[in-house]
This record gives sequence, C-alpha cells and structure tokens, in this order.
Amino acid sequence: MKSKFKRILYGGDYNPNQWPKEIWAEDMRIFKNARINSATINVFSWAKIQPSEEVYDFTVLDEMVDRLSEENYDIVLATSTAAIPAWMVKRYPEVARTDYDGRHHKFGQRHNACPNSPVYQKYAAALAAKLAERYGSNEHVSCWHINNEYGGECFCENCEKAFRVWLRKKYKTIDALNKAWNLEFWGHTIYDWDEIVLPNALSEGIGENKTAFAGLSIDYKRFNSDSMLNNYMMERDAIRRTDKETPITTNLMGTYKGLDYFKWAKEMDIVSWDNYPGLETPWSYTAMCHDLMRGLKDEPFMLMEQTPSQQNWQKYNSLKRPGQMRAQSYQTVAHGADTIQFFQLRRSVGGCEKFHGAVIGHVGTDNTRVFREVQQLGMELESLGDSTLGSVNEAEVGLVFDWDNYWALEYTSGPSEDLTYVEHIHQYYKFFYDRNIAVNMIPFDADFSRYKVVVAPVLYMVKSGMREALEEFVENGGVLITTYMSGIVDQSDNVHLGGYPGPLRTLAGVWVEEIDALSPQQSNEVIFQDGTKENCGFLCDIMHLEGAECMAKYESDFYASSPAVTKNGFGKGITYYVGTKLEDEGLAKVLEMVMVDAKVKPVIGDVTELEITCRKSDEYSFYFVMNFKDQDYKVPSCLVGYLDVLTGETVKNDETLSKYDVKIIRVDN
Ligand code: GLA
Ligand code: ZN
Repeated sequence: MKSKFKRILYGGDYNPNQWPKEIWAEDMRIFKNARINSATINVFSWAKIQPSEEVYDFTVLDEMVDRLSEENYDIVLATSTAAIPAWMVKRYPEVARTDYDGRHHKFGQRHNACPNSPVYQKYAAALAAKLAERYGSNEHVSCWHINNEYGGECFCENCEKAFRVWLRKKYKTIDALNKAWNLEFWGHTIYDWDEIVLPNALSEGIGENKTAFAGLSIDYKRFNSDSMLNNYMMERDAIRRTDKETPITTNLMGTYKGLDYFKWAKEMDIVSWDNYPGLETPWSYTAMCHDLMRGLKDEPFMLMEQTPSQQNWQKYNSLKRPGQMRAQSYQTVAHGADTIQFFQLRRSVGGCEKFHGAVIGHVGTDNTRVFREVQQLGMELESLGDSTLGSVNEAEVGLVFDWDNYWALEYTSGPSEDLTYVEHIHQYYKFFYDRNIAVNMIPFDADFSRYKVVVAPVLYMVKSGMREALEEFVENGGVLITTYMSGIVDQSDNVHLGGYPGPLRTLAGVWVEEIDALSPQQSNEVIFQDGTKENCGFLCDIMHLEGAECMAKYESDFYASSPAVTKNGFGKGITYYVGTKLEDEGLAKVLEMVMVDAKVKPVIGDVTELEITCRKSDEYSFYFVMNFKDQDYKVPSCLVGYLDVLTGETVKNDETLSKYDVKIIRVDN
C-alpha cells in the first residue's frame, strides 16, 4: 500500500509563539540533532491570526512556515478552530456551548464551540479556506490537521433545532419517531416536531450516563457525532477548494465514546490519533487502540501525539521510564503507524500544560535524558527510511467494535450497572494479544468473509442486515463468538421480541430465558466437559439448548448444571455463545477451542512472552519483537539468523530482550 508520506514523520506540536524569536533558531538546531523532520503548528492560534471579526493577521504564522520550509520540515498545518476567540463569544454568545445541565457557557477553555452555531461554522470554514489559499501550495505542508480532538456535547437551542431537522430527515413521520423511541411508554407520545427536546439533565437524562429513553439518547449521540463531523467536512471542503492533494486529517482519541469514528474515517484521508496511556494502562489496551485506529480505514495511520516523558492531566503523571517511550513508539509503528509525533516539541511557558512533557524541557538545552531518548529514536527512524511506510498488518481474526453498541449498552438500565463496553471488548482482545495472534478491529458492516474468526462480544444492538451477514459468514465456514448481552435490541434500542438473543438465536442454537446479575462480591463457576472449573460472574445467562452443544455448565445456584458456554454447528461453520463473564483463564479455554476449530495461527509459531507484531511490505515481513515484561526473554528461535534492521546485525541464537528492548527483524516474503 502506498503511504501518504515519503518518510516517517517525526516531530510534533510546536508552539513557539510563547518564546522570543532567538530561541526559534536554537530550537531548529536542537531538533535537527534529534532528526526531527516534522512540526505540527497553528493548533490553537485562532485568536492570534484573526484578532477581530474583520482582520486576519498571518505575519507570525508566515514566519513559522517559512522557517520550517527552509529547514525542509514536513509541516502538519492545523486550522486552529478548536478554541474560539474571546471576541467571537462576546459578540455572538451563541457560539459557546450549553452543557448537559443546561448552563450556557461564557468564554473559556477550548473545544468549546457549539457545532450547530452558524456563526462558528461560517468563521471556521472561512479560516480553513484562508489558510489553504495561503499555504496549500507550499510543498512542505504535508498534512492538514483540522480542529483538534473533536469531542464533547452541546445542548443549546441551535442544537435542539438542528436535532429536529436531523430527526425529520431520518424518520420522516412523527409516528415513526414515536415508535422508534417507544414514546408511548410513560405517556411521552409527541404530536409535533417542535415538542422534541434534547436529552439532558433538564429532560430525559438520569445522570449523564443513563436516560429514560435510550432510543432518544442514542439518536442524540449519533446527531452530535454527525454535527461535529459536519464541522470537519465544512473545513475539509473549504481546504479542498484550493488544495486538491494534501492529505487531511483530524486527531482522534482511540476508544473515545462520543464520536462514531468508523463513520468519521470515511471522510478522512488518513486517520491520526493521540495516545496517552496512563500509569495502569495495559500494553494490550494500547495495542487494541492502535488496531482500532488502523481498522477505521484498514490502512496505516498517524500517531499525532504522545508525550516524550510525562503528562500533566493524569492523577499521577509518572515519568516514562528509560526506554519506555522508544518501546511505545515501536509498538505504535508495529500496529500500523507511519508517523511518530509528540505533544510537544518544547515545553509550554505557562498555562495548565506547563508540566506536560516535551522534547526540549524548560532548561532549554539538549542535555537531558528525555532529549537523548528522542534523539536515539530519531536516528533509528531515519535509518529505517521508508522501508516500513505503507506496509500492512494482516489478521485472521476480526473483532467487532461498534459505537452504536457502545452507546446503547452503556445507556441500558439493568441488568447490571457495570456494563462498560470497552472493558468487555478488551478482555477478548487481550486473549489474542497475549498469544501474538493478529487482530483487525472491524465495524459491524465489515466484510466478514476476510476472516476465519469473527469475535462479537456484547453485541447488544443487532442492526438490520447484521443477522444475515453473520449467518452467511458462519454458513460458509466461519467461526463466530458472541456473548451475554447480545442480540437484544434493534437500532432504536427496542427489543427484538421472541426471546434472547433475538436475531442470533438460530445461529447460536440457544434461547436465553433469564439473565442473572451478580454483584462484584458474588461469583459462580462453570465446569467444562473435562471437569475443570473456572470462575464466572457479572452476568449469568440462563439458557436452553436449541441445537447447540453445552461446553461448560454452571456449578451452583438454582441454575446449576444448565449451560453457560455453548457451541453450535451452523452450515459449514460454528457459533460459540459465552453466556457469562469468565475470568481470563476460563475465557482462554473457550477461545483456545475456537482457535483449534478455526485453525488460526499466531504471527509466529513459537510461544513467547514477547509481543510480536508483523507488518508486511511487498518485499519483506517486519517482525517487531518487543519486551513489555519485567523479565528478560529470548528471541524466538524461528527469528534467529535474520537481520535486525535496528542494529544492522543478524540475530544470534540465545539473544535476549530486557524490559523495553525492541528488535525489528526483517524476513523476505
Ligand atoms: C491532547 C491535546 C493537546 C494537549 C495534549 C496533552 O491530546 O490535543 O493539545 O493538550 O492533550 O496531553
Ligand atoms: Zn449547541
């Protein structure tokens, strides 16, 4: 696959307006030593480049662009629209957001514009157009960065009106809307479009995460995601009027709940995202986020931001340990990144981010541990050249991730308040990660036929067409795994009547009669056919076999001996139904059966504690071998004798990797 870039972009956010010009030259000199070749600029400069409604002033930005161009940087040029200028809020208070509690905001913060404000839309698009006219033909501008981390919600009058228009387009008639949201319940039937109100604390909301009408709240989430996507598209189209080529992106945030990123990615030329794992974030979780970001377009992505050392906004902002940033960066490339960019290149002088890590610290020199690590990585990436650019990650396992399901499942009132979508997805992902089995994160409407296994945990909402697609996949020999809380509602959050798991019932060969919810203090056990027992809890489906075979049954309670895990032959394939939340060991037993049935292979044959991920170019397979564990481990023997492209040496027998060591081993295809 052809990459969007000619080299690995290595750099990050650069906000030099905060210090005198003499220092800019010093910055350039220091960055060069670290092989930094890219800078993301103009992310939060709207107030500076448009000091009033009538006046634009690009003097400082011109200087910055000129200097970076002279130094042959790949410039990632942001449009600055993620923080509105104070004058705009003063003159047009409607541009500010109204929050969930119904409070209309004053000027302040960032990510603060109402996405449905015509004033905001007009000026954001105008600014993007002006930037494109001015800088679009500069060959050093390698990527457009629209806005910044779109997110949040607005509940203002403009949004309410726009919501009604959005709904009218979707439902056509009031009757259809009443039916979709089941508004007859609690006597909420409406007779006119303008009776519709936004679901917040003043209306149907029960705390920010629950609602009286999930159908309404899910539609609001879809609408809000679309509203911001429209903002993105407006700026994109404004840029495209003059700049026909330069890739356009906006930086996403992994599993961020608020926006349907699969829908967004269709409008983006390349996906980019910001990776900020916390102290406790498992490496498997970060890997999953990378795979999700790659999965959005099924293409290599950009790492737009990570910190070289520490953050400022976590509870405890621990330093990345020596070698950790390097290992994290290679994990990112391993999972499909074509860029490594930091927030930020030089540490802020003031404001709430002054303690956020940067390539150059407040000391202002290159004589720091962090700088040396950035430099080492820069030299290595430079030596990789373009060899990994555009190379692809292949997988036999597809794991379904769906924002509608994310929203619907978490709005659900009962059976348990601990329904957190991503946690369940991650538990399944982790099984594959621990065994170096490559996974593609896929949307609900993916081409399932590309996979041997489709994993669809907590597939609560089964939208139209999905039953047919899954049945076809299994019928043709695929193996499907689904779980508790699956097949329950349709796209409007109304129950598929006729018994759980609704449209998946025939496929799974089971009928779930009741769902027991266990408190965190309670547990049960399941007994596998070989007599071994494993813990389970959270939810226990009480089910009847309708053709499926029982692979494990409950140990205790009034449903002891009834099936907990089942397997059903369907056409040439198989469906596994996991009716309860197993602990990792128990789940591994089920998923190992799946792997055998589907004949899925890990990235390499050898069993290892190291993370090994493969990216393939036309000529080579690059095996990224990384140690994220506390102990040393040997390079698997099947990779001995090949070239480690980082050292230029052949990997020897018995070579070991200590914590955070990385090898990129190249094998001819
Ligand atoms: C986000 C933002 C950046 C910066 C970093 C700090 O990713 O996009 O502007 O605030 O967080 O971690
Ligand atoms: Zn609004």
